[in-house]
Amino acid sequence: MTTNARTTSLMVVILALALAASFLVATSAGAQDRSRPPQNPPPKEPPSSFMPVIEEPFEVVMRRDKENKSRVMAAATRRLEDRYDLARHVDPDVKMTRGKPIPVGPTARLKGVTWEQLGRMSPEEIRAKGVFPYLPLPHVAHAVGGMVFPQTHIKQQPRLERFDMDFDIPDHFLPEFPPAIFLTTRPDLGDVSKGQLVTVNNFYELFNGILNPKQLDGLRLLVTQFPQQQFNATADRKTERNDGMQGVACFDCHVNGHTNGAFHLVGDIRPQENRRRIETPSLRGVNIQRLFGSQRALKTVEDFTEFEQRAAYFDGDPVIATKKGINILDRGHQVHEMSEFQEILDFPPAPKLSVYGRLDPKKATPAEMRGEELFFGKATCSQCHTPPFYTDNLMHDLMVERFYIPRMEGGMMITKQGPIKTFPLRGIKESPPYLHDGRLLTLEDTVEFFNLVLQLGLAPGEKSDLVQFMRAL
Ligand code: HEC
Ligand code: HEC
Repeated sequence: MTTNARTTSLMVVILALALAASFLVATSAGAQDRSRPPQNPPPKEPPSSFMPVIEEPFEVVMRRDKENKSRVMAAATRRLEDRYDLARHVDPDVKMTRGKPIPVGPTARLKGVTWEQLGRMSPEEIRAKGVFPYLPLPHVAHAVGGMVFPQTHIKQQPRLERFDMDFDIPDHFLPEFPPAIFLTTRPDLGDVSKGQLVTVNNFYELFNGILNPKQLDGLRLLVTQFPQQQFNATADRKTERNDGMQGVACFDCHVNGHTNGAFHLVGDIRPQENRRRIETPSLRGVNIQRLFGSQRALKTVEDFTEFEQRAAYFDGDPVIATKKGINILDRGHQVHEMSEFQEILDFPPAPKLSVYGRLDPKKATPAEMRGEELFFGKATCSQCHTPPFYTDNLMHDLMVERFYIPRMEGGMMITKQGPIKTFPLRGIKESPPYLHDGRLLTLEDTVEFFNLVLQLGLAPGEKSDLVQFMRAL
């Protein structure tokens, strides 16, 4: 053979091999596609900062999404069941303001270790053995994301139902619905909700004569629907109904100024798999807070109010917001009034606390007193959760990634989380689930979490004392 001929035949062989390899890759990718849950499409390269613009006809998207819904939910429920015991365990004697019993844990399922053994292991050991029980929690359908509302709320407001996914966490781990409302300006009235869900239909009769006209109009805006990524009047939406103005109201999540546990994905991270699931925080006591958003650290309630509709409603993407109907609030008038109302939402009463926010020894039980001593002593909680509201108004990096190896789960990249704001603990028993993503379903879980994260070595009795103390806050 001549050199040329040899080169040619070599090239033919290489070409054939390359073709075979690409065929194999293509078929195995195809097989993978079929076995994968639909919410986990293969990552598209290169990643884009922009949300995809859906141009398919509404009927086509809805039919496909409805067909996939049961598979999406089955996968999400499996993931959750694998992590937690979701059975209903409540304390019938300890209730939220309007009577819902609080859930009791710990709910995390341990993989071949006991809590005592875990408590003695170093972060490196826990990471190496893959036994950390509190990994970041993915969205029900992480690749799609968007706002998801609890079933109890949807029953009263069917417009909040999505055709592509449902809420995943069972109702007994959620705040009571509808929750009580306390006003800093009228503590003499107690709960002013009258047991009702405040909406645009009843806010006026409930609050006329209690609020001033500015606050009243602010409340009107907080219960008025405005277009949002999944709830809007275009074909690119996730609700079947399109009766009148489609959208969401602030109080669809911050129900009665508190929370119903609704979640979505944080708007300010890319790519999609690195975005965090975020659970709605209560607006009770925003008046004493100085940082808003788990990581955004916006400095005022006004900033956050403006930001919610301008950015969070549309995943931080003004391109898509323009298409779906962005509602830009007037800062000096509307934002001001909405904030004035939010700023008078109070924490629920805590009858055992003194003016310093500490337990009154005459009213507290011995277990609560022991819990307080631990909280301010051995357990170091008060380093960040400082009285009277049990927040230092700062952010802290708990470095939870010491306990796990980064990996993909449920379409989410489980990796470093960085600094997160110290949420206040006043009224904490009324707002499960806990942490920015709601991964801790009960107060017992929060104690187990911090026992590991802070390497406290707490004994079982000490853990339960700490829970007793937090229930009194
Ligand atoms: C999905 C339901 C949802 C809707 C609708 C919603 N929010 Fe929120 N809100 C959240 C979540 C989740 C956070 C936490 C954000 C974060 O961690 O960055 C939040 C945070 C906030 C905060 C900061 C609270 C804190 O403790 O840091 C304020 C204030 C707020 N929202 C006001 C509003 C207003 C005003 C509206 C209407 C314009 C609104 N929200 C609509 C879910 C919602
Ligand atoms: C280094 C500061 C720091 C210390 C010490 C600390 N925390 Fe926290 N705590 C935080 C931060 C930051 C968050 C929010 C973390 C997140 O959302 O991922 C938080 C969240 C919580 C929450 C959930 C709040 C909510 O609204 O979801 C509870 C409950 C809690 N801490 C209890 C405790 C207890 C009990 C201790 C002591 C055993 C403790 N913390 C020690 C910083 C701290």
